[in-house]
This record gives sequence, structure tokens and C-alpha cells, in this order.
Amino acid sequence: MIEQQIKAAIRDIPDFPKPGIIFKDITPILKDPVLCENINSAFTEKVKDMGIDAVAGVESRGFLFGLSLATKLGVPFIPVRKAGKLPYSVNQKVYELEYGTATIEIHTDAFQKGDRILIHDDLLATGGTVTATSELIKEMGGEVAGFSFVVGLSFLKGREKIEPISDDIIILADY
Ligand code: PRP
Ligand code: MG
Repeated sequence: MIEQQIKAAIRDIPDFPKPGIIFKDITPILKDPVLCENINSAFTEKVKDMGIDAVAGVESRGFLFGLSLATKLGVPFIPVRKAGKLPYSVNQKVYELEYGTATIEIHTDAFQKGDRILIHDDLLATGGTVTATSELIKEMGGEVAGFSFVVGLSFLKGREKIEPISDDIIILADY
């Protein structure tokens, strides 16, 4: 099963990036093209009937499976980038982090008003990143069709935070 395959590949790194954090390192997944294809297929199977017009992937690890999912679905990919990286005109959203703020940006012509957009990231922790992404997409006239993640850290309650936005939440491997 895909959940066991993902959990067997993920490597726990203690005290990264800060003391007390156990980091879920997904890079061993990327070394295994069969597992990557299985992940792509699992996502595609789960979202294919959701009427998705585009997939938005969050920099940087959300780009990894976000683009391949969009490609498999035959829909555009929208890069959601950290501030100052996108070259064309942008809409932006400032959001709160544990300490300070962060800014994400999307190109003004990334999608059409009314498009149903699946937000993809590698990992759901507190849900702050994808909540900010949802708010930006809605401000730009898009509709959030749902969310997809390779990994979820359920003890951080991200699902509870994003459920009011959409309860179509796909998490392949939940901890
Ligand atoms: C990590 C992860 C998610 C986000 C999840 O990204 O890839 O994007 O944090 O956290 P949240 O649910 O609490 O918002 P990170 O900021 O480490 O950047 P990266 O993807 O560029 O490595
Ligand atoms: Mg990230």
C-alpha cells in the first residue's frame, strides 16, 4: 500500500532544522522512480473526478509532485513562490509564522477567475502555508477545490485548520 511505501522511504532527521524537531526527509522517495510513479498514480486516482482546472504547488517541495500531478491530470500547474522570485506581475499574501511573517506570490495571469484549483504541498504541518495560499487564490477569484499532501503531521492539527476551506483533503501518509 502507498502509505507503507512512503513511510518506509521517509527518513527521520532529529534536531533539524532546530533542536527538538524531527524532520521528515522525503528525499529518499525521490531516489525511487517506481515509488514516485506510485505516488503520482495514487494522487491522480483520488482527484480525477474532482473537476480540477489547475494544480497550485507551493515552493519549493510542493513543486516536486505538484507538477507531475498537473501533467497527469492534463491541467496547468501554478507555481506559488516565495517573495521576489516570480518575474511577471504578481499578487501576494503576507502571513504569520511562529516568529515574524512570510510572503507568497502568484502570477496575475496564472489562472482564470472561477477556476477550481487543487492546492498541493509535500507536507501538511500547521496548515499555515496552504491557508495563506488558499486566501491568495480566493482573492484572485479562484475556487479552492481541495488539498493534496504526500505527508501529514496530524499532531499539529493542520487538517482542522484547513477543513473549513475545503474538506477534500488527500494525505497519502499520515503521522
Ligand atoms: C515546509 C513544507 C510545507 C510547510 C508546511 O516548507 O514543505 O511547505 O513547511 O508547514 P505548515 O503546514 O506549518 O505551513 P518549508 O517552509 O520548510 O520550505 P521548502 O518547501 O522550500 O523546503
Ligand atoms: Mg514547503
